[in-house]
Amino acid sequence: MIDLTQHNTLGLPSQADTYVRAKDRLQLQAWLQRHQGYPLLVLGGGSNVVLPDYWPGVVIAPAMQGVQCLETRSEQVLIEVGAGEVWKDLVLYTLKQGWYGLENLADIPGWVGAAPIQNIGAYGVELSSVLHSVVAVSRKDSHEQVFSREQCRLGYRESIFKQEEAERWVIVAVRMLLRRQPLLHLDYGEIRQELLRQQVEHPDAWAVSQAVIALRRRKLPDPAVLGNAGSFFKNPWVDAMKASELRDHFSGLVAYPQAGGYKLAAGWLIDYVGLRGQGDQHVGCHVDQALVLVNRGGAKAADILAWARHVQARVQDVFGIMLEIEPRVYR
Ligand code: FAD
Ligand code: EPU
Repeated sequence: MIDLTQHNTLGLPSQADTYVRAKDRLQLQAWLQRHQGYPLLVLGGGSNVVLPDYWPGVVIAPAMQGVQCLETRSEQVLIEVGAGEVWKDLVLYTLKQGWYGLENLADIPGWVGAAPIQNIGAYGVELSSVLHSVVAVSRKDSHEQVFSREQCRLGYRESIFKQEEAERWVIVAVRMLLRRQPLLHLDYGEIRQELLRQQVEHPDAWAVSQAVIALRRRKLPDPAVLGNAGSFFKNPWVDAMKASELRDHFSGLVAYPQAGGYKLAAGWLIDYVGLRGQGDQHVGCHVDQALVLVNRGGAKAADILAWARHVQARVQDVFGIMLEIEPRVYR
């Protein structure tokens, strides 16, 4: 029996029969073959999962390391990164190499192999803007397949690996096309303000990464101090008519135009219904960011999920919107 409490950032107590780290593809294929027929949970950094008290099977961590430059083109480099590399380290490493594109995605927890699963995004940039392809191994028969960016069908916190291909593949490497000249994205949220605050007049990509890191550290709790999985719900999309109805009733509603409708700030909705900072001694909404559910100590999966249902019910009552859970919940 293995204790997974240290392997999930919510810090939920969880046990599994076996936990193995696959250092390379051959080792992964051997583990997959050896454990055919057992329930299989693939786990990276554990920063986007709600783990059950007991997982009656094997947990495999695809821990492949390495960053390889596959091709240098006039304006871009094509890199391949092992699934087990730590995402936030990769971002800083690429910037030091003079490879640009990941700066707005600085400081997102987790491993590289999980990045395509929900098409990680922050501060106006998503993985989809740099993803070239994904190398994956079939959980069923261990064959290897390359998924092009189009085949991954990336969307807002979505990909084919959360939909029709869910639980069928283990991602072993991620290929990204990075720029050799930076193209800065400064227009999202408070990036410009933060750069000014840091007295950076002529920002480069490194400065953007540092501004994003500073902003994130002010808003989001550090999982090492307070267990959490980042945003617990997705920001909901509503059509223009619903957005306009809501605006008439709720002044201050935070809504961003998006794909023929509006994306609403779920954190604002939860805050509005009075749940920011609320909960009990075990679980609740973070006091600085209502969208982040926190384990204040001693919470189990059932406590987190009960609180999540309470939040969903309150938001549904007031706004008529059902919030969708972002992390993967295992039962
Ligand atoms: P895990 O939690 O280990 O796994 C998540 C899911 O992916 C599971 O279903 C797992 O089975 C699957 N999976 C993992 N690795 C593989 C693999 N190699 N092959 C196949 N399936 C795999 N996310 C954002 O998008 N933007 C943010 O700004 C952001 N901020 C965060 C801030 C905090 C403080 C925290 C705690 C989380 C945040 N997240 C954010 C969520 C999380 O960091 C990302 O989703 C990250 O990509 C998860 O990586 P992981 O290795 O921890 O995945
Ligand atoms: N807000 C409130 N009260 C709150 C929380 C937020 O009023 O308690 C308001 C804020 O003032 C702001 C708006 O809601 O006007 C949006 O808040 P924020 O800028 O913190 O961003 P978010 O929409 O809550 C999203 C992502 C984050 C990502 C940030 C930055 C989702 C579900 N979340 O958060 O991703 O880091 O934007 O780009 O899309 C994650 O997915 O785990 C995650 C942390």
